[in-house]
Amino acid sequence: LDNGLAITPPMGWISWLKFGCNTDCEAYPDNCISDKLFRKMADIMSSEGYLDAGYQYLIIDDCWMAEYRDNKDQLQPDPKRFPNGMKDLADYIHSKGLKFGIYEAIGNYTCSGYPGITLENLEKDAKTFAEWDIDYIKVDGCYANKKNYKKTYTDFGKFLNNTGKPIVYSCSYPYYLEKAEQRVDYSYITNICNLWRNWNDIEDSYSSMINIINWYSMHQERILSYSGFGSWNDPDMLIIGNDDLSVKQSQTQMAFWAMLSAPLIMSADLRTIRPEFKEILLNEDAIAINQDMLGYSGFLMKSILGVDIWVKPLAVIVNDFPTFAVLFYNKNFIGNVFTVSLLDVGAYIIHSYTAYDVFEKSNNQLVLPNENFTFSFTSEMMLYKFIPNGD
Ligand code: DGJ
Repeated sequence: LDNGLAITPPMGWISWLKFGCNTDCEAYPDNCISDKLFRKMADIMSSEGYLDAGYQYLIIDDCWMAEYRDNKDQLQPDPKRFPNGMKDLADYIHSKGLKFGIYEAIGNYTCSGYPGITLENLEKDAKTFAEWDIDYIKVDGCYANKKNYKKTYTDFGKFLNNTGKPIVYSCSYPYYLEKAEQRVDYSYITNICNLWRNWNDIEDSYSSMINIINWYSMHQERILSYSGFGSWNDPDMLIIGNDDLSVKQSQTQMAFWAMLSAPLIMSADLRTIRPEFKEILLNEDAIAINQDMLGYSGFLMKSILGVDIWVKPLAVIVNDFPTFAVLFYNKNFIGNVFTVSLLDVGAYIIHSYTAYDVFEKSNNQLVLPNENFTFSFTSEMMLYKFIPNGD
């Protein structure tokens, strides 16, 4: 969507994976969806390096609403959990240098059963969000009419735009269409949404993450070329820093999301996250690959002996040769040492490169023209930057 926003994939934090629809503030005062929780996350994002690394959107997912609209039919936050209202929370979040995101759904209900944006309220609700000074909105669609998705999401986007307030527009409907095996017009969606979910909700599990990665590789020709300035495929949240992924598996997620130019939206408890996971989320090189100005998504170039080779061209040119990122994903765990030719990774064999290991950082290797590149898998996934050498 050409609204001047999300020129690179949006980065931020969202409540869903970690805090879900926990509305019981009596039993869980520190973990329920409430004003208090978001102020705390805002404090941490701005003071503990996340904002500096680029994570700027703080997004409330489902379950912030009161059970009913107010007597003027306006959306309202739950008065007990958000006693100061949304504008006040927005002001606080903005005072920390962050941007504020919110969730709604087109249809009678949100996916968790709260008041949705019904057709007669599209315009009114867009205005409400602008009045609350919201910078980002994730629009779900569990209860929307599938036949009308295109029109309702388009209309809501127009109403958002008419408010004059710049708002990043995240659309979930392609996911529901893909699930129903209906055709999705991605080229149209790039014109109306800044980002869009394509496939399953991620869960805090390695298998759910791998399922999503496999889906993108299976459908890459149909999907991945739509990635670019202001328009991003969204493979869902980063689950790094929660219970399931090991450190190496977390690197796998960070690397794939970087290669796919995916929105980097964390959803871990930043109050208690372990430093080894925080380090992965803040990895500057992985973030730079993700945020690269060309905005291309990486592609699965080829598989050799069970190793998938993904390549993403980057904007940095050295001596007329482009830099690019290469991800090796070892599906079969066959052998530790692996050799590829420069051609296998999409490089120019007449040039020399430095292969830089994004997670180990130390492992720089010189690859001379026409030579092979040999490395050891110290994990199932290795992410390199291939930097052309000067003369
Ligand atoms: C379905 C979405 O895909 C999830 O990310 C989350 O927003 C839930 N709905 C909320 O109900």
